[in-house]
Amino acid sequence: MPKDLNFAVLGLGMGMNHCQAVVDAKGARLAAVCDHDEARLHAAITKFGCEGYTKYPALLKNRDIDAVCIATESGLHATHAIQAARAGKHLLVEKPVDVTPARIRQLREAVHRAGVQCGCVFQSRTEALNLRLKKAIDSGKLGKLIGVHAQLPWFRAQSYYEGPHGTWKGTWKLDGGGSLMNQGIHTVDLVQWFAGPVESVCGFIGVFGHKIEAEDQTVAILRFESGALGSIVTTTCAIPDQSQRILVYGEKGSFTKTAYLESFEAGTPKERRQMMEWYGHKKTSRLGRDPLAVGAAGHVRHIEDIVKAIRRNTRPGITIDDATHAVEIACAIFKSARTGKIVKISDVRK
Ligand SMILES: NC(=O)c1ccc[n+]([C@@H]2O[C@H](COP(=O)([O-])OP(=O)(O)OC[C@H]3O[C@@H](n4cnc5c(N)ncnc54)[C@H](O)[C@@H]3O)[C@@H](O)[C@H]2O)c1
Repeated sequence: MPKDLNFAVLGLGMGMNHCQAVVDAKGARLAAVCDHDEARLHAAITKFGCEGYTKYPALLKNRDIDAVCIATESGLHATHAIQAARAGKHLLVEKPVDVTPARIRQLREAVHRAGVQCGCVFQSRTEALNLRLKKAIDSGKLGKLIGVHAQLPWFRAQSYYEGPHGTWKGTWKLDGGGSLMNQGIHTVDLVQWFAGPVESVCGFIGVFGHKIEAEDQTVAILRFESGALGSIVTTTCAIPDQSQRILVYGEKGSFTKTAYLESFEAGTPKERRQMMEWYGHKKTSRLGRDPLAVGAAGHVRHIEDIVKAIRRNTRPGITIDDATHAVEIACAIFKSARTGKIVKISDVRK
């Protein structure tokens, strides 16, 4: 049996889920955590019995660390990940990989130069239902796609945007936006993963229910490279909050999903029946209200995936390139909202 790889986690908000995921994952060991918030650091060391650092450069000097999970403020991901790559550490970077395509490009170059592995978190892509739906689309069961429509009507109290770990949220610099770039980026990613690359967008944004800089509601129309049309609505103002909802229809069929499958009208009668039997059970979900209610299962799969990529020198399940398009789409929507014009994705790649 090969030795477990030593992981460190930087940032101990969502990073606590990474710690638990490393502990639960096969082939990984939680060696160290780092946060300059001493109360958070102390809580993590007490819970996980690992080494603790308040200074990130000191953590990176530890030669025993093989990989670092980056779970800091979104607009600092590339900076922190580049430092780790230069220190020869492999990486797992939280969503969004960073908040601008330019910074993500810098990270890609640094990772390439250092020859380390870098996986990116989009745990929704690892869920069984989403994998099945992706397979159904890719194998042509829905036919050529016509429409892809997603809503994320979530709620965040004003207190979420306040306090020592709240004020970066809903800012352009560190959150890259609000409901779309932070909460909504999983939904944007699923939409483009299901339907393929987006060609152009038209967006509207506003601040309606909070004292924040960027936006707490975004409404956007998308044109996909395939010719299909789509829409995305994200908000943190919906009372009561509701599940993410995605409707996809093509020339031969359709599905609607929330946390579970609401309808699957594609393929043979047996396939339709089976899909509803397997995935149509109503589950309660508190994801809309509690940012840390995501659980660790998806992150366990991400940790095991990066362990495999490091050991076998194969590409991680979600690479930097795979994780970039969602950020490009969000940035294009914001550019459209600012300029009042339709924006091509190629315009935000420059
Ligand atoms: N995958 C998911 O579903 C999911 C859910 C929630 C958050 N996230 C992502 O996780 C990231 C963190 O979000 P959060 O809500 O935990 O934020 P947070 O502000 O609660 O936590 C970030 C932590 O990083 C620490 N930190 C920042 N720079 C540091 C440095 N140089 N050295 C040491 N510590 C440093 C801060 O002190 C803070 O404790 C964000 O990118 C967010 O988008 C992902």
